[in-house]
Amino acid sequence: GRVAVLMGGTSAEREVSLDSGRNVLDALLSRGVDAFAVDGIPALVDAVRDGHVERARRVDRVFNILHGGDGENGVLQGLCEALGVPYTGPGVLGSALTLDKIRTKQVWQAAGLPTARFARVPAGGDLSAAVRELGLPVFVKPSSEGSSVGVFRIVEEGDLEPALEFARAYPGELLAEQMLTGGEFTVGILGDVALPSIRIVPAGEWYDYHAKYIAEDTQYLCPGLDGDQEAEIRALALDGFRAAGCTGWGRVDVMRHADGGLMLMEVNTAPGMTSHSLVPKAAEQLGVDYASLCWRVLEQTLA
Ligand code: DAL
Ligand code: MG
Repeated sequence: GRVAVLMGGTSAEREVSLDSGRNVLDALLSRGVDAFAVDGIPALVDAVRDGHVERARRVDRVFNILHGGDGENGVLQGLCEALGVPYTGPGVLGSALTLDKIRTKQVWQAAGLPTARFARVPAGGDLSAAVRELGLPVFVKPSSEGSSVGVFRIVEEGDLEPALEFARAYPGELLAEQMLTGGEFTVGILGDVALPSIRIVPAGEWYDYHAKYIAEDTQYLCPGLDGDQEAEIRALALDGFRAAGCTGWGRVDVMRHADGGLMLMEVNTAPGMTSHSLVPKAAEQLGVDYASLCWRVLEQTLA
């Protein structure tokens, strides 16, 4: 059947999504899949209805690689459910929950899973009070964006002002979160399997947008841990993914406390698939090349 590779869209991660999407499309085409690119949800609706496109194109399934916004918050998933079109990645509940970092952490807490201490700052709320309550260093970030968009790293008092300025203009909730200094990890999930963890070692101070997509000097160690600890991080990631109502594929970010304890950070339900991205690196470690990874993700819609 025909596969729409849904990319682009209107979120702050549009450019990353186009990069991911073009790579996925090429990979599926190389495997003989009858795939084509669709930019954004309105265009997908048109394609499904055979309307408003030059050639009538039926859509049999959707490979969703829209990052952030309506691609990862349940809206696309609900639309596909209503249209009866199978799609990759978690369903409505898991997508909607995990695009909201604050509520994801609340669910993890309720499930007894470890996550860094945090405070919720409603739009227009008192960010400096939240930061003071947590103590430095902290991260401040929008509850519902990706790719480090709008993330502030506050190590000393002087770092607070730019975050306050951002908070004054930002219309949504902010998450203030204890910064953990024992290392940053991520674990790809493919069906029932947690892929080998990756330890991310940015050349600069932290893994920001530049270190994610532009820098060539970010180091990725895979597997990121040894022996029992590696088994522990994979099990934790899979537990965190499932506790957040997710199935299919995705990526769970984890940080390590200075004392060695692992803490869940967030779930990405349409993880990056650019040439710099992490799930492809982890799959490669298992001998699964990029095109095979795309195929396996797509396969999950065939059930
Ligand atoms: N939100 C980006 C695309 C990621 O998690 O890979
Ligand atoms: Mg993210």
